Formats: sequence, structure tokens, C-alpha cells
Amino acid sequence: SEILRVGIAGLGTVGASVVRLLDSRRNALALRTGRAIQVTAVSARDKTRDRGIDLSGVEWYDDPVALAASPDIDLFVELIGGEGGAAKAAVETALATGKHVVTANKALIAHHGRALAELAEEKGVALAFEASVAGGIPIIKTVKEGLAGNTITRIYGILNGTCNYILTRMEKDGDSFSKCLKQAQKLGYAEADPTFDIGGYDTAHKLTILTALAFGVNVNIDAVYVEGIDKIDAIDIRMARKLGYRIKLLGVAERSDSGIEQRVHPTMVPSDSPIARIMGVTNAVTIQSDAVDELTLSGPGAGGDATASAVLADIADVASGAVGRPFGPPVATLGRAIQEPIKRH
Ligand code: HSE
Repeated sequence: SEILRVGIAGLGTVGASVVRLLDSRRNALALRTGRAIQVTAVSARDKTRDRGIDLSGVEWYDDPVALAASPDIDLFVELIGGEGGAAKAAVETALATGKHVVTANKALIAHHGRALAELAEEKGVALAFEASVAGGIPIIKTVKEGLAGNTITRIYGILNGTCNYILTRMEKDGDSFSKCLKQAQKLGYAEADPTFDIGGYDTAHKLTILTALAFGVNVNIDAVYVEGIDKIDAIDIRMARKLGYRIKLLGVAERSDSGIEQRVHPTMVPSDSPIARIMGVTNAVTIQSDAVDELTLSGPGAGGDATASAVLADIADVASGAVGRPFGPPVATLGRAIQEPIKRH
């Protein structure tokens, strides 16, 4: 069969890991999917930077939209990030010109997922975003495919590694909020703008994607109540501990009388519960449903290789010929945000 020609836009930590993992898994992936996968073109800002990857014979584009429009690729992998701008323009261009799209961009899917999904369906191409939620945890495939036979009643989790890292360090070392944030940034976990992490918006982006898949509602960031961890003090953590609790930033979606309710806020969880034991940059998601009762998945929510692992899973799906529907048609109603909708950035 023909080679699947892949174009990658964005060669940061995740992009470089995708190139590296695709290379080392080349044979295994070809055997599994029945198709050879090859990175044929890339685009990034800095052509000269040494990324420790071999890009010989790979076509270089300065403009991601030009890469997305290229007739020489079958699949466009978007690793630029950001709700709008180049990422959105490039993904729209790729879909409109009949390419499959794999993206790690939670903000893009949280804000424009429905419209992009419609475009993908119209064009008969895949739009896959496993890497957009909880990095290396295959939570989207779990919810969409693994639990397809379940009626989900509730889904909640730790979806931001930076916040969990900060809360962990504050508890273990008694360090200040700002010192722990700086450390998280140094380790490369935080977003370019850390407000997205500590303000809860990153968690909200991921939650609303999970909600849409778990309950069959529209992906709608404006229906999420959001409160971050920026007001949490060392004293709060100590007091919670005294009472037998840990403070975790949770994203929660569940059925309520007014529809599917979505919220993000610091939550006191009993110290001995599975979710309370998740420390450091690790993410975790608990799903409650009729058939399997309760399921918790935990693992790395960020980092180059972990996130690349999710990108590769989507690439393998495309190579296997899976197109599917990014989201199904809406089958349930969303509740309103409990308070004011989140601020747009
Ligand atoms: N800033 C995010 C986090 C990265 O800390 O979890 C992964 O989306």
C-alpha cells in the first residue's frame, strides 16, 4: 500500500519526540497498520536549531499554512498550539484541502472543536486529538472506544500537571506558590502563559473535550465554571492535611438536573482516595459508568515523549484507515456555567 506522508507543524519538545518515536517505531507501526508512515515535510520557526533529530530529505516550510495546503502530504500534524492564529488557520486549511489532521491542541479543540469536526466530516477525513487531553494517558480512546458500551455518569480528574506539581511541592517542601511555579516552568511543564495552568483554563480546555466525548454534548468552553489554584496558600494545604484531605485541582463533569455540568476548582479530596495519591506532574482521570462502575487511569500528562505517544496513536489510527467521527452529534444538554463563563485570553 501507499506511504502515509506526514507533515508536522511545530518542532518543539513534542514535535521532536514525534519525529524520533516515528523513526524508532517505523517497522512496528508499518506492520500494525499495514502502511509505511513517513515524515515528508515539517514547519517550525527556527530552521537552524539543533533538535537532535534527522531531518535530511524532509521538506522545510517556514509557513505552517503553506505546509497544510501542500498536496505532498496526506496527514497534517499540528503541534503549534494556541486557540487561534497559525494553528487554527493551518488546521482549517489542511481539512479544507482534504488532509487528515492530528493535533495536540486542547485550546483549539475546546474553542473550535465542533466547527472543525463538521469540516472534517464534510471532507471525509480524520480529526484526532488524543494528545490534547492528559498527555500520555490514552483517555480519549478509552472514553470514545473502550467505554463505547457504557453510559457515563461522571468523569473527573487531575488534568494539569503544573498545578499538581505545584500543590505537591507546596505540601512536601512547604515552598511558596511562586517558587513552585518557577520550578514547574523550568522543568518545561507549564504553558507559555502560566495563567492557563494556574488559572484553571488549561484544565477547563481538557475537561470540555472529555465532557463532549463522555456525554455526547457540544464542546463548549463557555459552559465551564473555572477557578484556579492561584489563591491557595501553604496554610490551606496544611489545614486540609490536618483534616485528612489533600487539595487537588479537579475538572469535573457530571449529570445534573439542568444538564451536564462542568466545573474546575481546587477540591478537598480524602487523603486515601486514588485521586489524592496522584503526586507531581502526573495526571489522572476517574470515570464512573453503569457497566464498569469505576475506572481510574493515571500517567504522565505532559512531556515530549509521553505526549508524542498519544500523537503516534492517532497517526497509527489514520494509517490504519480509521476516520470515524471526531464527536458524535449532540445527544444531551449542557448545563450552564455555575458562575460567569471563563475569561477569553
Ligand atoms: N501545561 C500543561 C500541564 C501541559 O501542566 O499539564 C500539558 O497540557
